[in-house]
Amino acid sequence: MSFLIALAGKGGTGKTSIAGLTVRYLVERRQGPVLAVDADSNACLNEALGVKVHASVGQLRESSLETIRSGSERPGGMSMDELFEYQINQALIEAKGFDLLVMGRPEGPGCYCAANNIIRKYTDILAERYPYVVIDNEAGMEHLSRKTTHKADSE
Ligand SMILES: Nc1ncnc2c1ncn2[C@@H]1O[C@H](COP(=O)(O)OP(=O)(O)O)[C@@H](O)[C@H]1O
Ligand SMILES: [Mg+2]
Repeated sequence: MSFLIALAGKGGTGKTSIAGLTVRYLVERRQGPVLAVDADSNACLNEALGVKVHASVGQLRESSLETIRSGSERPGGMSMDELFEYQINQALIEAKGFDLLVMGRPEGPGCYCAANNIIRKYTDILAERYPYVVIDNEAGMEHLSRKTTHKADSE
């Protein structure tokens, strides 16, 4: 069972800074591995943590939808869920003592509720592997009504 820490509040109040420092603190205290989740569509937790982002959940969702639309073969006859879970694991950015999962946003205009729902589901699944999960949310309280942080132990 992992301990979930979620940062919420107005823009510019230090959520991302505190999320980054919390991850670093836990890693330094050897409480890891820590799962850091950037649930802000304007992703920047990676900068606070000093890592590069090569993929986001938003991008993966689009490429999975493209696979469905084009009717192309899925590797090893995987189901869509299996393919997506495989891709989520690919999207995990591995760093020293922590992994980072980035929600990102869809290309172009459009709502990112789908990416938000996905990050909620996969944070629950991935959390089993980590003693601590730190979630950096976007500004405002909307993520609470969307229930991204429905299991937070500390906000
Ligand atoms: N405790 C602090 N004292 C002074 N400046 C801070 C502090 N925490 C954050 N900042 C600065 O405030 C700005 C916004 O911080 P950030 O962590 O990005 O907020 P949020 O994620 O809530 O939008 C950044 O430029 C950051 O460096
Ligand atoms: Mg922020």
